[in-house]
Amino acid sequence: MPSDQIRKIAVMGAGTMGAGIAQTCAAAGFEVAMRDIDQRFVDGGFRRIRDPLMKRVERGKMTKADVDALVSKIHGTVDIKDALQGAQFVIEAVFEKMEVKREVYAEMDRVAGPDVVFASNTSSLSITEMANVTKRPDRVVGMHFFNPAPVMKLVEVIRGSETSDATVALAKDLCVRLGKEPVEVKESPGFVVNRLLVPMMNEAFNLLQEGVASAEDIDKAMKLGTNMPMGPFELADYTGIDIGLDVMEVLYRETGDPKFRPSPLLRKYVRAGRLGKKSGRGVYDYTGR
Ligand SMILES: NC(=O)c1ccc[n+]([C@@H]2O[C@H](COP(=O)([O-])OP(=O)(O)OC[C@H]3O[C@@H](n4cnc5c(N)ncnc54)[C@H](O)[C@@H]3O)[C@@H](O)[C@H]2O)c1
Repeated sequence: MPSDQIRKIAVMGAGTMGAGIAQTCAAAGFEVAMRDIDQRFVDGGFRRIRDPLMKRVERGKMTKADVDALVSKIHGTVDIKDALQGAQFVIEAVFEKMEVKREVYAEMDRVAGPDVVFASNTSSLSITEMANVTKRPDRVVGMHFFNPAPVMKLVEVIRGSETSDATVALAKDLCVRLGKEPVEVKESPGFVVNRLLVPMMNEAFNLLQEGVASAEDIDKAMKLGTNMPMGPFELADYTGIDIGLDVMEVLYRETGDPKFRPSPLLRKYVRAGRLGKKSGRGVYDYTGR
């Protein structure tokens, strides 16, 4: 199917990434359905889209009519049949748990027409394993967007073991239509960006634990020494320290390579509920900010 035949995209999940992806698709002119399991999560997704846009309205960067027009292209629903009705392409952004993903893929496979392509936004899980519960493994692919999805340019397009060339080409073409830059990656733990980035963040936790430098100085060193816009701890607090640990666990488990062993300090922070900005405290304290 050429990408110009895609008119409607169904997004599964209205969390951080699902809402951002739905917004990106609507801004590119697609009709969008955004599905979550409960109405309050769907409503939360709309808030995630609307609140930052209304801040742009306050700053005179957009009009309220622009925001309304964009949001009106997104149909929120809890009904999977309703979401998939008339959709040619699905982008899945539900919890990063293989049991949940596999249930969602099995259900989508029963409901969607046979030509519909499924793309997963997973950060680290196997596309092949999700595809294996469907009768269309050649039409299952990874499309790994970065947070915040409406802003970040890159999408890693992941080829699972059974993904066809046509599906990879369609996903890459769709990225371009969404205003993104695709890179093609074969399925491998952490793909490219997380395989490089998260072990670097993990090593920063090792440095901190060894007392080699303060958190502030480690962040400062990486920002001024390598032109990173955020230091490793600022980034870990922004993306969620638990997410970083999850990625390290996958890299370590899948490769068995000791270089991917999660830092004990990273683990300790997660056990203490210091998950970063979302919990009010991570490496830094956000409660007073
Ligand atoms: N947060 C990030 O920085 C980031 C970046 C890139 C990729 N990802 C990936 O995106 C995916 C989603 O992550 P997130 O951060 O948006 O998570 P999130 O927890 O913010 O949102 C997940 C949403 O999925 C919903 N959900 C659960 N089961 C569902 C089902 N059966 N049908 C529909 N919705 C369902 C949940 O109710 C929740 O609202 C994960 O695979 C994650 O690895 C996250």
